Amino acid sequence: MTTLHTVRVLSRDAILAHLDPLCDILENSVNGGASVSFMLPFGRDKAAAFWQKVARSVADNERVVLGAFDEHEQLQGTVQLIIDQPENQNHRADVAKLLVHDRARRQGIARLLMCELEKVAVAHGKNVLVLDTATGSGAETFYAHCGWEKAGMIPRYALMPDGEMTGTTVFYKFL
Ligand SMILES: CC(C)(COP(=O)(O)OP(=O)(O)OC[C@H]1O[C@@H](n2cnc3c(N)ncnc32)[C@H](O)[C@@H]1OP(=O)(O)O)[C@@H](O)C(=O)NCCC(=O)NCCS
Repeated sequence: MTTLHTVRVLSRDAILAHLDPLCDILENSVNGGASVSFMLPFGRDKAAAFWQKVARSVADNERVVLGAFDEHEQLQGTVQLIIDQPENQNHRADVAKLLVHDRARRQGIARLLMCELEKVAVAHGKNVLVLDTATGSGAETFYAHCGWEKAGMIPRYALMPDGEMTGTTVFYKFL
């Protein structure tokens, strides 16, 4: 059965109101082995501190956070657009923390989030998007399938949550 998802911009207050499901999604991804800035052990304290910082950044107009909700208003995924850039790169934004809970993967939620993210980017006058993701990850395949251009790969860039070294693949997309 196909589940209908809707994507909404999350304000500072909405992030704080959805702190638990946002922490669930982040913990699920990190504990599932995703390379998204954090190391194991990873639990509620670190996740809540992260989202509280993100909420402050949203309030400061540095980034936009999107949330994907199912028909029961349950949050299943999220992504961020970092719009605050140096004055010589104001046409550009970075994409960060595309996360879909593993109970809801392969239903097109990430694709939907990225589609809405591009609309938000255009509305903010952005026409170049940049991101990086762990080389060899499912996310790398996802971006390649969603029309992102591979700029290149940097070896030994980051650690996976379990401490294993990984390269990162840098992608860009012109809007
Ligand atoms: C990567 C991630 C966001 C994908 O979310 P998703 O909602 O499952 O993705 P979608 O259903 O929109 O996938 C669309 C297409 O991308 C590709 N794709 C998605 N996940 C994939 C995976 N793990 N492996 C290979 N291809 C994948 C497929 O072509 C898929 O289409 P299909 O299901 O018809 O084959 C999700 O697996 C995730 O949250 N991973 C952990 C966090 C992470 O690594 N985030 C990236 C940080 S940069």
